[in-house]
Amino acid sequence: MRLVARPEWQALQRHAEASGGRTLRGLFDADPGRGERLAAEGAGLYMDYAKQRVDDETLRLLFALAEARGLEARREAMFEGAVVNATEDRAALHVALRAPEDARIVTGGEDVVPAVHAVLRRMAGFSERVRDGRWTGADGRRIRNIVNIGIGGSDLGPAMAYQALRHYSRRDLCLRFVSNVDPADFHEAVRDLDPGETLFIVCSKTFTTQETLANARAARAWCVAALGEDAVARHFVAVSTNTEGVRAFGIDPDNMFGFWDWVGGRYSMDSAIGLSTMLAIGPERFRELLDGFHAMDLHFRSAPMARNLPVLHGLLAIWNTNFLGAGSHAVLPYADYLARFPAYLQQLAMESNGKSVTVDGEPVDYATCPVVWGEPGTNGQHSFYQLLHQGTPLVACDFIGFCQPLAGEAGQHDLLMANLFAQGEALAFGRQDPGLPPHRHFAGNRPSTTLLGDRLTPHALGALVALYEHSVFVQGTIWDIDSFDQWGVELGKQLAKTTEAELADPGAALGHDSSTNALIRRYRERGKGGATNA
Ligand code: F6P
Repeated sequence: MRLVARPEWQALQRHAEASGGRTLRGLFDADPGRGERLAAEGAGLYMDYAKQRVDDETLRLLFALAEARGLEARREAMFEGAVVNATEDRAALHVALRAPEDARIVTGGEDVVPAVHAVLRRMAGFSERVRDGRWTGADGRRIRNIVNIGIGGSDLGPAMAYQALRHYSRRDLCLRFVSNVDPADFHEAVRDLDPGETLFIVCSKTFTTQETLANARAARAWCVAALGEDAVARHFVAVSTNTEGVRAFGIDPDNMFGFWDWVGGRYSMDSAIGLSTMLAIGPERFRELLDGFHAMDLHFRSAPMARNLPVLHGLLAIWNTNFLGAGSHAVLPYADYLARFPAYLQQLAMESNGKSVTVDGEPVDYATCPVVWGEPGTNGQHSFYQLLHQGTPLVACDFIGFCQPLAGEAGQHDLLMANLFAQGEALAFGRQDPGLPPHRHFAGNRPSTTLLGDRLTPHALGALVALYEHSVFVQGTIWDIDSFDQWGVELGKQLAKTTEAELADPGAALGHDSSTNALIRRYRERGKGGATNA
C-alpha cells in the first residue's frame, strides 16, 4: 500500500489539520509538566523535545506509523546483517564496527566481529608506533604531520572527529585533511610541511575516487621529489576495501588497513577510516568513541519507542517534514569543537535519504529528506538566525550543548549555554506585544529539540553520531527508501570524465547542450584575453 494511503499516515494528516491552530505556548500552558515529560535519555545524552509541536496523540500516531512500517523488524534486520541495502545487494553493518569482541554478528554466513577487532588491533599497533616515534619517516625522523586524503565519508567523519576531539589529541601531531580535487586544497595543506616528517593516509573505500586518486598522486610526487621513490613505503598508508587498487597505486598492502563492503562510506568513521582519529587521540580514547556508538546502538535496539532517542528523533523529523512542511533542518551545536558536525550530518542524512523512489523503485508522492545545514552557535545567531526567528520558511532546529566545558573559563561557558537555552525559548514562544511594531514581532511556535550531554568526550561523540545514524535509518524506513545507496552521485561523476577529456583536448568536438558547450568554450579560451562564446 502506498505510504500516503495508509490509515496511519492519513490519521496523522487529519491530526495535523485538526491541530493546526495549536501553539507551543498553548501546549505548555495546558501541561505544566511538559518540559520534564517530553524528554528522554540514553547513552549519556538527554533529549528535550518538549518544544516540538507535538502532544501525546501526535506521538501515539507516529508510533503507530512506525509499527505499520515495520520499524522494529527492519531495525533487527539491520543489526542481524540482513541485506537491508537492496539496490546494492548488501548488508549495512556499521553497528558491527563498534561491537565488543565477544559479540557475534553474522552476514553472508560469516561472523564479522573477529575481523573488525583484528583491524582495530593493527590500527592500534600502528598508531602507537607513530605516536611513540618507533615508526619513522624514510630518513629516520619522527612523524609530526599526518595528512588524510579522502572525500565524502572518507573525509567528513575523520575531519569532524579530529576537530571534535581536539582536546584529547596529541598536540605535537599536526593533522590536516585534503579532500577537494581543487589543487589549492593539497597545496595549502602541505605548503609548510616537511616531507620527511609527513605521513599520508589515503582513505578510499573503492580506491577509484577521482578526487582522492588525484590528490594521492600529487602527494606521492611531492614526497618522491623530496625523499625519493623508496620513501613511499614509510610515508604512505592506505585505508580501503580494494587491495588491488591500493597495490596498483604503489602502496604496499602490508601498509593497508581494510574494511568491508557492508560499511557505507558515510557510516565509516568508526572503521579503519578513523585511523587519523586514532592517531590523534590514541587507541584507548578511540575505544571510548566506539563504546559511545555501541551504547547508543544498544539503546536504539532495546529502549521502548516512547523513550528511544533515535526513534523519537527520526519520527519528529517525519512529523516536521511531512506534516508541518518544514523543508529544512538546522543543526546548531553550541560547542565550537563540533564546528564540522553539520557538514558531517549533511552527507549522513542527505546522501542517505535524499531519494525520490521507494526501495521497489516507485516514485514517492511525499517529501523525503529535508535540507540539513548549520553552524555552531553563537556564530549562527549573528548570521542566519534572523530567518529562523522571523523568516517565512519553517526550519526544524536541533540545539546541541554540553553541561561542562573542556577548555576555557567556566563563566564564559555559562554565557554560551545561556544563549542555547534562550534561542530555543525565543523560537518556541516568540514575543507578542501589541505595543511593538510588526517588524519587532516574534510569532514563535518554531519547533526545536535540544540534546544535552555532560561533556564532549569521545564516548559522547560516538553516542551523538550513532543517534543521528539511527535517526536517519528510522526516517528512511518510514519513507520506504534505501538509505544505504547513493546512485544520485553517479551521473555528475560520469559527465565529468567526458568533460575532463574535452578540456585536455581543446580540439575535441563538444556534444553537450548549448549552455554547457558555451561554458566549456569560454574556459578553453582562458588566458587568451577576451573570452568568447562563439
Ligand atoms: O560520491 C559519493 C561517495 O561514493 C560517497 O558515498 C563516499 O563516501 C565518497 O564518494 C568517497 O568514496 P571512496 O571512499 O570510495 O573514495
